[in-house]
Amino acid sequence: MTEKIKILGIAGSLRKDSYNKSLLKAAQELAPKGATVEIFDLEGIPPFNQDLESQPPQIIKDFKSKIKAADAILIATPEYNYSIPGVLKNAIDCASRPYGDNVWKTKPVAIMGASIGMLGTSRAQYHLRQCFVILEMFPVNQPEVMVTFAADKFDKSGKLLDEQAGKLVIKLLESLVNLTFQMKK
Ligand code: FNR
Repeated sequence: MTEKIKILGIAGSLRKDSYNKSLLKAAQELAPKGATVEIFDLEGIPPFNQDLESQPPQIIKDFKSKIKAADAILIATPEYNYSIPGVLKNAIDCASRPYGDNVWKTKPVAIMGASIGMLGTSRAQYHLRQCFVILEMFPVNQPEVMVTFAADKFDKSGKLLDEQAGKLVIKLLESLVNLTFQMKK
């Protein structure tokens, strides 16, 4: 296959100076030659209401189209109260409905995350992995990219300074691309 693998990147934070948005931008820059990372911003996705799931607003239609068109998904999640932020869970739910139109289904997915704490989103990441079971997504297992003490790992402009974290992001993207190729065979 000569075409590039299209990865859709999502950060589970709406914060302007989000470390997870910055981590996703770093992944965009570090993407291997055979892949591109397009970022979808979750700003504006309304709270999911099952009464309205058959008439979704344009932003959900656009989000679902981007997911459908992507070969693979990359999620950068913060950790909120030992789990994933509501903003991210809401977006996941919106794109999984209505029943029978779960656009996450069969997508390879990789996770990474940055937090200001010493466990670097590990608890949130394991909760996120649990969602992949019902969504029928195929997660990359290794490497786990958990950026701890994020305030020390990015500069004021959001550039990733930590060499070790950058190397792990590259490995994660390579694993995601390999898994995607395997699944296309
Ligand atoms: C946090 N934060 C946090 N950090 C952590 O390591 N474990 C946690 O359980 C929590 N819980 C938590 C709850 C809520 C509501 C907020 C707002 C924050 C801190 C979090 O790591 C920090 O705010 C990050 O900067 C969030 O990620 P972004 O927005 O920088 O991508």
